Amino acid sequence: MAIDPKGRSKPGYERHMFVCGHERPPEATRPSCGRRGSLALMQAIKRAAKEAGLSNIRVQKSGCLDFCEFGTTAVIYPEGIWYTLEGEDAIAAMVQHLATGAGAEQHEMNITAEEN
Ligand code: FES
Repeated sequence: MAIDPKGRSKPGYERHMFVCGHERPPEATRPSCGRRGSLALMQAIKRAAKEAGLSNIRVQKSGCLDFCEFGTTAVIYPEGIWYTLEGEDAIAAMVQHLATGAGAEQHEMNITAEEN
């Protein structure tokens, strides 16, 4: 049996955040989070979470989460709350969610279905 070098006894995290890092070419028909600077934002969230002393959380890049038209996309589990990362306070709000499981409602993704 393998031994975890970090001393963990079971897999998983208290909270797990995925930030879309997908980037499409400029001529693509759909926008992409990578072109909106999502990876720099992800790094800033990681830094802020570390500075806040959070442990047992993980923030990482994902592929396209398929909500490309709604801004820079992220989701945090286990709550399963989807976010559009915009605005100066987005980083602090994400750290708040990672710490407590809530508190970033103002950044929740707002989806409106296309009218038929
Ligand atoms: S490119 Fe980010 S959700 Fe699709």
